[in-house]
Amino acid sequence: MPAVTNSRLSRQGDVRPRGSMLPFDTVTWPVTRSFGLGNVVPPMPSNFMEVLETRSSERHLSRAPLREVANLLLVAAAARHAWGVSPRRSLRPSHSAGAIHPLSVLVVRSGPKPRILRLDPFAARIEFLRPERPKRLVDLVDAASRIVPSAAADILVLAADPAVPNAIYEEAVSLVWRDAGALMQTIHLCATAFRLGLCPMGILGHEALEAVFGDSTALFAAGSAVVGRPITHP
Ligand SMILES: Cc1cc2nc3c(=O)[nH]c(=O)nc-3n(C[C@H](O)[C@H](O)[C@H](O)COP(=O)(O)O)c2cc1C
Repeated sequence: MPAVTNSRLSRQGDVRPRGSMLPFDTVTWPVTRSFGLGNVVPPMPSNFMEVLETRSSERHLSRAPLREVANLLLVAAAARHAWGVSPRRSLRPSHSAGAIHPLSVLVVRSGPKPRILRLDPFAARIEFLRPERPKRLVDLVDAASRIVPSAAADILVLAADPAVPNAIYEEAVSLVWRDAGALMQTIHLCATAFRLGLCPMGILGHEALEAVFGDSTALFAAGSAVVGRPITHP
């Protein structure tokens, strides 16, 4: 069998800029209504080391008010500065290859009729989305309650749109996954600063995308977590 050299192995999956950018499609989210988040409400003062040292996965959670979750997402994931048109690039607290930020943060609010919302990172608004298949939201809530039964909380899903990374880079998919890890970690650290609890889940959250788009979407789910108020036991 021919030997695979280390140098060949180490190039597998390496990202390479394309000579010229390919055309790409832009996703339209089915927004029914939205509300502006206004100014950021900062967390109680705490130093960076305290946040780093206290971050941990919290599994005993109750639902936090939507305003609190929305404010968390505004702090963790909204664009601070944007440039370029197609594609639009931006500066946010988490890093992203090429400043593309190909991930949307979705929130699934549990309840008898679960709702799905999205942070618009450029307009600092929370959008209510019209689900084409609402049953898939119920399926996601059920799955989360099996994984983290002590969390009656909201579910975050990272929705990845690989179109722009693919248009600019060859072998771009790993960029999207690496961005997803950075974004979830940033949300987790911000949740800690806000005294909210978060636990990532092994499920990716594809039910949320099926709920919104049915079977046909170029997006894919790249991670999920429960987030809410930690329940402290005496
Ligand atoms: C990608 C990922 C998936 C995870 N999936 C689950 C899960 O399905 N259920 C769970 O209880 N914890 C899950 N966790 C939480 C880890 O178990 C937790 O991060 C780990 O025990 C370390 O604890 P810490 O976050 O408090 O440092 C996940 C964490 C990550 C990063």
